[in-house]
Amino acid sequence: MKEIHDFTIVERRQHGDRYFSLVLQHGGTLQPIVPGQFVEVRVDGCHEVMLRRPISVHDVNPEAGTLSLLVQVVGNGTRRLAELQVGDKLNIVYPLGHGFTLDLKPQTSALLVGGGAGIAPLLHLSKALKARGVECTILLGGRTADLIPVRDEFLPYGTLCLATDDGSLGHKGLVISHPAFSEHYNMIYTCGPTPMMKAVARSAAERGIRCEVSLENMMACGVGACLCCVTDTDQGHRCVCKDGPVFDITTMKKWYQC
Ligand SMILES: Cc1cc2nc3c(=O)[nH]c(=O)nc-3n(C[C@H](O)[C@H](O)[C@H](O)COP(=O)(O)OP(=O)(O)OC[C@H]3O[C@@H](n4cnc5c(N)ncnc54)[C@H](O)[C@@H]3O)c2cc1C
Ligand code: FES
Repeated sequence: MKEIHDFTIVERRQHGDRYFSLVLQHGGTLQPIVPGQFVEVRVDGCHEVMLRRPISVHDVNPEAGTLSLLVQVVGNGTRRLAELQVGDKLNIVYPLGHGFTLDLKPQTSALLVGGGAGIAPLLHLSKALKARGVECTILLGGRTADLIPVRDEFLPYGTLCLATDDGSLGHKGLVISHPAFSEHYNMIYTCGPTPMMKAVARSAAERGIRCEVSLENMMACGVGACLCCVTDTDQGHRCVCKDGPVFDITTMKKWYQC
């Protein structure tokens, strides 16, 4: 069930110039959050930003009653969020959307491919898969090493593989040219820039591997009311906020083939 709360920022960390993370607590019990679900954050104190901003849930600690967000500064809203400090409040609607499918059996294998801010939901996902006994390979990419934040957080949950365009960290080139990408997996999950996700989806389809993509279309209401986030799927138009953001590629041929 969706809830709205004023969360308190209990921890803030900066990751290079572009990224920061916030750990948030509202004092009560957290709603269960499926990896891939997101929150809508109200941006206070910035008159240019009227609408809430969608941000994926990066991590959840049910015992501590906290959830974490990993945010890339791109515009006025995220710049304002970056100014917040420990003790400040953040008004959040959560949990929103349809998350990743977690039906893999123990000892099966999954590849998680993330790029840019699309890395965010993959930590919660890798933890959930590890808890189910799934062997995860986590493949993260960015233009430079600085643009792959929080990579060490993934180390306990699988084999970490990195790719940078300039070769400053890990394999030099795109994630799809990393040798780990060509291995066989029972499932591929991906979140990041659209061209990256389309290339991942096309390759998964060609190799007959199940695959889910998490779209990051621009959003307004976040609950399926305004239709501004609609995407064209093989089953017609779907709201990314309500029917996604996670979609199985078997319904997304139109999307990944263009
Ligand atoms: C389901 C979902 C989950 C997301 N999760 C995260 C996350 O975990 N961490 C994170 O940092 N960001 C995430 N985003 C993206 C984030 O919502 C946007 O970066 C944010 O809304 C930008 O707000 P702003 O006011 O700073 O920038 P704006 O001033 O609104 O925009 C600045 C620039 O960024 C572009 N932009 C804005 N939103 C998007 C978008 N969704 N996709 C591509 N370009 C965009 C605009 O066109 C503009 O050029 C997510 C988006 C969605 C839909
Ligand atoms: S953001 Fe309003 S319908 Fe999706």
